[in-house]
Amino acid sequence: MKLLHRRSLGYLFVLLVLGAMVAGCAPNANAQLVSPQLGAQLYAEEASGEIVIEPTPAPLKFVDLTPEQVTAGLPADFAAALAAADASKGETVALSNGCVGCHSVDPAVTMTGPTWSHLADTAVNRQPGVSPANYIHESIVNPGAYVVPNYPGGVMPAIYGESIPIEDLANLVAYLLTQHE
Ligand code: HEC
Repeated sequence: MKLLHRRSLGYLFVLLVLGAMVAGCAPNANAQLVSPQLGAQLYAEEASGEIVIEPTPAPLKFVDLTPEQVTAGLPADFAAALAAADASKGETVALSNGCVGCHSVDPAVTMTGPTWSHLADTAVNRQPGVSPANYIHESIVNPGAYVVPNYPGGVMPAIYGESIPIEDLANLVAYLLTQHE
């Protein structure tokens, strides 16, 4: 008797779940059906002031930024070092500190870390309101502050803020800021 009771409860549960699934699939009578005229319909509704279609914002490009927008928010000592930096020396810093074991500027090469191809453009858009120089600097000296989606946190060494002298660090960031479209 008890067993039967439990079983019927089980059936009831399955029925409830199925019911919820069917209800969830039912079309919403008020929803706009996709039709070949959809564009015209939306246009008409927009013209009537009922809905406003915002254009999808295109990602910002590094080259569209002013120098101030590139370096905004940097710690003062690093901003000064970056102003005096030599980007042509940055690749050597990346080599001698082992960065290139996990990062490549070649987009076709998959490594443990995200690509450096167009990194300056990526850096513009990673965190709204954070300048690309500030983002890249922070990514190097404090990699745990922001973990790139789909990449493991805690893998990139967090020692570089101490192990790399500030002039070398500035050359490195200046070099990475040259990686853009
Ligand atoms: C052991 C592997 C490893 C090494 C070595 C390493 N990184 Fe990374 N790096 C990562 C991983 C993994 C991420 C993504 C996860 C995260 O955000 O911490 C990352 C993220 C970054 C980012 C952010 C990239 C983006 O697309 O937003 C920058 C910039 C960066 N690393 C620079 C460096 C520099 C410069 C060095 C050397 C001084 C270095 N990394 C050394 C693994 C590494």
